[in-house]
Amino acid sequence: MSDTRPIGIFDSGIGGLTVVHEIFQRLPNESVVYFGDTARVPYGTKSPRVVEQFAKEDIYFLLRQDVKLVVAACHTVSSVALDGLVASMHLPILGVVDPGVKAALEATGNNRVGIIGTRATVHSGTYEAKFRAKNPDVKIFSKACPLFVPLAEEGWLESDVTRMTAEIYLEPIKEEGVDTLILGCTHYPLLKKVIRQVMGESVVIIDSAEETAKQVARRLQLIQMENAAGNPPSHAFYVSDIPHQFQEVGERFLGDRLGNVTRVDLDTVH
Ligand code: DGL
Repeated sequence: MSDTRPIGIFDSGIGGLTVVHEIFQRLPNESVVYFGDTARVPYGTKSPRVVEQFAKEDIYFLLRQDVKLVVAACHTVSSVALDGLVASMHLPILGVVDPGVKAALEATGNNRVGIIGTRATVHSGTYEAKFRAKNPDVKIFSKACPLFVPLAEEGWLESDVTRMTAEIYLEPIKEEGVDTLILGCTHYPLLKKVIRQVMGESVVIIDSAEETAKQVARRLQLIQMENAAGNPPSHAFYVSDIPHQFQEVGERFLGDRLGNVTRVDLDTVH
């Protein structure tokens, strides 16, 4: 069985391109349609009800592109709205929380795990609940790091300001003796170098984008929806607004593989 339809990936903005990057690496045969809701970013400061409504509209748009599976590449959506989305939509939907939890459970030796994300993600308690369900002995230390998103978008990936900010956010988690840290936000993989310096070499850093791509590969295989025919893939990128510097910021996430980006009117996404 071969299914040449694209994988749909969405995020509140362009941060989900970190997931696209990993999917390109792991599943080079698969086509991707990406939707970034750049007109309404950030989701991380909004209520669960609003985030779920926005996410539904993002998925309706992807359904119109005839996607075979959807990845909610946004941790905020995955934390506050995934169950409702999976229940209400008639196609496979994967989030980015479960893959990170799975990888952290495999990585931790002392059962002390740190999680960083947006305020909405941290306040939802979703990561804690998932860990509790799988292994109640794991102790979770979470911290919202809202300033990491604008720092990543600004391209201040290794500046002194970023390092100081990382120290302030991460020192309390480090002091708890965690041996594993989940990057629970689309933007944080871009700051991995500084995060690694602050946390130290011995802490395992879980990049959920990588783990999500592995999970997508496993799911496609399981449901026999891989593009096994060997047709060359084609990719399309859509956003709900094209902000100033979009191309530059997008390339920061995806390298030079960000082709043409099309703006979609939100009015048509219903
Ligand atoms: N995409 C969001 C996340 O991963 C970060 C940006 C936002 O707040 O919308 O949680």
